[in-house]
Amino acid sequence: MMPRPATVLGLAAALVLIAGCDDMTKQKKQNPYASRATAPGEVPAGTVAYGEISAPVPPVTMALLERGQTEYHVFCAPCHAETGDGHGMIVQRGFPAPPPLAAERPQFVYDVITNGRGVMYGFAQRIAPEDRWAVVAYVHALQRSQHMMVADLTPEQRVAP
Ligand code: HEC
Repeated sequence: MMPRPATVLGLAAALVLIAGCDDMTKQKKQNPYASRATAPGEVPAGTVAYGEISAPVPPVTMALLERGQTEYHVFCAPCHAETGDGHGMIVQRGFPAPPPLAAERPQFVYDVITNGRGVMYGFAQRIAPEDRWAVVAYVHALQRSQHMMVADLTPEQRVAP
């Protein structure tokens, strides 16, 4: 029995297509790894390692505190609140409440900012290492402003203005 014309046509088309595929494997192409400029493994100048770098602790200055205040208001206050008590707007809308911020352990606060903790996501990609120390300094100032004891004041400061 003779094959039907449609089948013959189909086979011919398949042969043409297969031949076409074959040609494509032999065509000229750019090897993306051929040039040193594009080869993987070359670290471009100025690249910062994600989550690994720990900036040296900067001296606490007014400028650092102001920078920390800005960053804190942008990134932390939505959950930890302006006062650090943990009742920020996101928490009022149902996010788990964080404990009140304590600042006795600066390295701990720095590491939580970098890596996150529990349901809190990390900020390694959003807050630069120097700015994390600025936030740590601001959190410390926030604590001091709320828990200042008379004993912490100098005799001159204890005199009411
Ligand atoms: C989306 C809400 C959210 C944001 C934004 C957020 N946090 Fe948190 N944070 C939490 C929650 C919830 C916890 C408690 C996590 C746990 O222990 O499971 C927490 C825990 C912490 C802790 C540990 C507290 C402790 O004593 O255990 C620190 C420190 C902290 N956050 C600092 C920050 C700082 C600084 C920022 C801003 C850079 C920030 N957080 C941004 C929700 C948030």
